[in-house]
Amino acid sequence: MKRLITFLCAFLMLTGLVTAAFAQAGSLPVGIVLPTKDEPRWLQDEARFKAALIAAGYNVEILFSQGDSAKEKANVESLITKGIKVLIICPQDGTAAAAAADAARKAGVKVISYDRLIRGTDSVDYYVTFDSFAVGAAWGDYLVKNASGKGNNLYLYAGASSDNNAFIFFEGAWSALQPKIADGTFVVRNSTEAVKLMGKAKLSREELGKIIGQVTTDWNFGVAKNKAEADLTKNKRSAKGTVFVCAPNDGTARAIADVFAIDRDVKKFYITGQDAEVASIQYIINGKQSMTVLKDVRVLVNDAIAAAVAYLKGSTPAKTTTYNNGKFDVPAKPSAITTVTRDNVKAAIVDSGYYPSSYFSGLE
Ligand code: BGC
Repeated sequence: MKRLITFLCAFLMLTGLVTAAFAQAGSLPVGIVLPTKDEPRWLQDEARFKAALIAAGYNVEILFSQGDSAKEKANVESLITKGIKVLIICPQDGTAAAAAADAARKAGVKVISYDRLIRGTDSVDYYVTFDSFAVGAAWGDYLVKNASGKGNNLYLYAGASSDNNAFIFFEGAWSALQPKIADGTFVVRNSTEAVKLMGKAKLSREELGKIIGQVTTDWNFGVAKNKAEADLTKNKRSAKGTVFVCAPNDGTARAIADVFAIDRDVKKFYITGQDAEVASIQYIINGKQSMTVLKDVRVLVNDAIAAAVAYLKGSTPAKTTTYNNGKFDVPAKPSAITTVTRDNVKAAIVDSGYYPSSYFSGLE
C-alpha cells in the first residue's frame, strides 16, 4: 500500500511537471513537421500524434512539407517564429533538411529527428526511430525461410536515396539475403550492381547507393509499378515462375504485387512490405501480399513526446545507441518491430488494438 501511494505521488508529480513544462514554455512549445500527406504512413503518424496529444491535453501544431524541402524549411521557420522550444521533424530529404535543423538550432530550439535521420549537420539533438536494420532483416529472413533449393528468382526494390532509412533497410535485408545470393539459393534478376557485389557481406554506403540507385522506387507507387513492369518485360520466362520480391514498404509492395500478379509467367510470388497499412493488411488477409512489418507508430509518437518533455524539463531523453549522420553520432533509442504474416495478422493487428477488426473483411 505504502509503495502504491509513493508510486502515485511520484506519478502525479511527474505529470504535474510535464504539464508545467508544456505550459511554462508558452502556447506552442513543440512543433511537428511531417514529410507528406501523399503516403499513408505519415497520415498514421499524424493521427497517432493527435490522439496522444489530445489524451495528454496538449495543443501542438502539425505541419506537412508535401515532399518539398523548401516548404519544410518554411514550416520550420514559421514554427520558430511562433516560439517553439522543441522541433519534432521527419525530413523529406535527409540531407536537405540540415538547413532547417541549423535554423532551429540557431534559434535555441531542440531538434528531434523523427523516424528519418537528418544528415550532414550537428544540429540534431536526438533521433527517435524504429530498429530499421531489423525491418530489412525481417524481409530477408522471410524470403530466405520460404525459399528452397537453388536458383530462386529474386527481385530487389528499395526506398528513396534521399531517405537515410532506405540505406538501413537495405543493409538489413542484405545481411540476410547476401549469403543466400552468394551460395546460389537466390539469383538477383533486376540489379547488375547487386550481382557484382554478391560476394560482399557488408556494403559501404557508396556500394549500397549503387544498388539502391538501380532499384529505387523513390517511395513512389507509380515509380514502383513502372520498375516492376520494366523488370518483368526485360526478364525471360525462366527468370519468373516462383518469384521472391523484396519490396521496401506497403504502398510500393501493393503496386509491385499488382504487376507480378498479372504476369502469366509468374506462378507464385512472395513479397515483403512495412508499415502495416490498412490496405496491405487486407492484401495479407487476401493472400496478395505475403508479409508486412508492423512499426507501432503509437510507440514512436510516445517516444517523441517523451523526448520533447525531457528537453522542456531541461533533461535529456534516454539513449541506448547512436546513429552516424555523416557528421556525428546522434543519440537514439530504437524501438522493436514485428513481422506480420497471414498466420499472426489477427493477433498482431486486431487483438493488439492497433486497428479495429471492422477495417477488414475475411478475418475470421
Ligand atoms: C519510413 C517508412 C515509410 C517510408 C516512405 C521511411 O522513412 O520509415 O515507414 O514507408 O519512409 O514514406
